[in-house]
Amino acid sequence: MAVLVTGGAGYIGTHTVVQLIEQGEKVIVLDNLCNSSRDVFSRIEKICGVLPTFIEGDIRNRECLDKIFSASSIDSVIHFAGLKAVGESSQIPLDYYQNNVCGTLILCEAMAAAGVKKLIFSSSATVYGEDAPVPYEENMPRGKTSNPYGASKAMVEQVLTDLCASDPEWSVALLRYFNPIGAHPTGLIGEDPKGIPNNLMPFISQVAVGKRKELSIFGDDYPTEDGTCERDYLHVMDLADGHVSALSSLDENGVHIYNLGTGNGLSVLEMVKTFMRITGVDVPYTFADRREGDLPAFWADASKAEKELGWRATRTLDDMMEDTWRWQSNNPNGYEG
Ligand code: NAD
Ligand code: UFG
Repeated sequence: MAVLVTGGAGYIGTHTVVQLIEQGEKVIVLDNLCNSSRDVFSRIEKICGVLPTFIEGDIRNRECLDKIFSASSIDSVIHFAGLKAVGESSQIPLDYYQNNVCGTLILCEAMAAAGVKKLIFSSSATVYGEDAPVPYEENMPRGKTSNPYGASKAMVEQVLTDLCASDPEWSVALLRYFNPIGAHPTGLIGEDPKGIPNNLMPFISQVAVGKRKELSIFGDDYPTEDGTCERDYLHVMDLADGHVSALSSLDENGVHIYNLGTGNGLSVLEMVKTFMRITGVDVPYTFADRREGDLPAFWADASKAEKELGWRATRTLDDMMEDTWRWQSNNPNGYEG
C-alpha cells in the first residue's frame, strides 16, 4: 500500500517524503510544480536511495486523481498542496479559495469514490485567530482569521470535520503547524522560495549568503520582552516526523487535531542573533513598521501530540540554524544551483 503525498515537491512535503521513505513507506507524489522544482526528486534519491513515484498534475484535476487511485493501491493521503503566501492571499483571494478549498473538495471526492478515507491535512496555527490566548490548545474554538489564506485553512478544517461526521469510515488528522524552519541535515533539500521571501528564516539566510542587502524587522514596539514578535519555530524534520507519527492516528476513525510546535516562543531579534552566533555570519538589519496582520506572540501547547502520538520536537534551535545555513550556503540559488 502507498501513501499519496499531494504537494510533495514543496518545502515541508520533500522532508516528509524523505522521512516516510526512511520508515519503509511507498510514496507517490502529486504536485503541479507551481511553487517547486522537479530537481527535488534526484536530491531525495541521493538521501534515501529511493526515487519516489512523481506525477505532475493538479489536485483540482479529477480525472488525474481518478487515474492515480485506480492505478495504485493507496491507503492514505497526506495533503500539502496549496497556496501559502499570506499577503498574496489578500490580493488574489479567489485563487486561494480555488486552490486550497476547491482543491481539497475535489481531492476528497476522488478519495471517497476510490474508497480511500484516511487523510492528513496541513492546517496552521493561524486558525486560532486573532483573539486566542497563548499557548494555543487544540480544544479552543477556531477564531477570526485575518486573511483569505487563514480563512481557507479554517474552511477546510470545517469541511473535513463535517465529512467525518457524515461518514464514520473517514479518519482525518488536522495538523496545525506553527513556524517550520531548517532543512535536511545533508543540505540537499530545503526551503526555496520564489522571489522575495515572505518568511523570516529564508530572508535571514538570503541576507547572510549575500542575495539581499539587509533584513527589515517588522515592528519593535510589540508588548513582548524585546518589542519584536514571538513565534514557535520548529525544525522541518521534526514536523516531517510529526506526519509519520500522525499516520498511526488514522487507525481510529473521526477527526484528530494536533498542534505541531515546540511549545516555546522566540522573538525575531533572538532568531537573528542566534543565526549570527551559530554561523559566524553577519546579518545587517533595520527596524521597519509593523507588518499588517502580524500577531504579537503565539506558541503551541504541544502536549496533546506527545501524549497521543508519542511525538515531540527534539531538534534544537542551534540545529535549525546550522541546517538552514548548510542548505543556503551550499545552494545559494536554491534548486537552480
Ligand atoms: P510549498 O509551497 O513549498 O509546497 C506546496 C506544494 O504544493 C508546492 O510544491 C506546489 O507546487 C504544490 N501545489 C500547490 N497547488 C497545487 C495544486 N493545485 N495541485 C498540485 N500541487 C499544488 O509550501 P510548504 O511550506 O511546503 O507548505 C505545505 C502546506 O503546509 C501548505 O498547505 C501550507 O499552507 C501549509 N502550511 C505551511 C506553513 C509554513 O510555514 N510553511 C505553515 C502552516 C501551514
Ligand atoms: N518578519 C520580519 N521580517 C521579515 C519576515 C518576517 O521581521 O522579512 C517577522 C514577522 O513580522 C513575524 C515573524 O518574523 O513577526 C515571523 O514571520 P513569518 O512570515 O516567518 O511567519 P508568520 O508567523 O507570519 O506565518 C507563518 C506562516 C503562515 C502560518 C503562520 C502560523 O507563513 O502560513 O506561520 O502558523 F499561518
